[in-house]
Amino acid sequence: MEVVILPGNRQIGKLAADAVEALLRRKPNAVLGLATGSSPLPVYDELAVRHERDGLDFSAAHAFALDEYVGLVPGHPESYREVIGREFTSRVNILPENVHTPDGSAADIPAECRAYEDRMRAVGGVDLQILGVGTDGHIGFNEPGSSLASRTRIKTLIEQTRRDNARFFTSLADVPHHVVTQGLGTILEARHVVLIATGAQKAPAVRDFVEGPVSAVCPASVLQFHPHASILVDEAAASSL
Ligand code: GLP
Repeated sequence: MEVVILPGNRQIGKLAADAVEALLRRKPNAVLGLATGSSPLPVYDELAVRHERDGLDFSAAHAFALDEYVGLVPGHPESYREVIGREFTSRVNILPENVHTPDGSAADIPAECRAYEDRMRAVGGVDLQILGVGTDGHIGFNEPGSSLASRTRIKTLIEQTRRDNARFFTSLADVPHHVVTQGLGTILEARHVVLIATGAQKAPAVRDFVEGPVSAVCPASVLQFHPHASILVDEAAASSL
């Protein structure tokens, strides 16, 4: 694990965008793994700028979202399919058919989870996975207690995560209880993982997953096993290291 402490969001966005840009220039049909949440927004903003300004080309790239809520009506503004589109994919020239999100409204969720992994495998797996981290150490929606070898599956959100995410909904009651998420085993297969954490509220989680034991109690700690994990943090998120 390589931990890089940077002054703020702009520098984090630029460094992560450098990794994406280098990948796309080397491999135009690269497979990007996308996270939602506020942490990756500086990266998406910077990539959108580089697309507009420098012609950074996403036309042959693929993208796979980490997770999706279960039970939101298709097109719900807070469904991760919509969020990813709004915040990133609609701002670059990636083809809509190459942007994949798990279908949280599928009638047969376990079959959808298997099909999602098949779709990832069919394009050669994720080259670069962008991640945030929850205040409880979750990545994707792999809450504490998730198997370190887990695959894409349905999970129940813990109350802390529902409360953290309630800011995106009208009320806490509107936050779904269930989600589909890539598993920790799935995420570990990405060839390069770039995790972004900013702000003092992330400091305990960052300390636990970087310096604590590898444990399902802190799901992000599984990244200690990853051969190429870059952890980009600001000084506040690094303050307990
Ligand atoms: C959600 C997402 C995660 C994300 C986390 C942190 O739970 N499923 O992928 O990392 O939020 O969000 P934020 O970056 O807004 O703190």
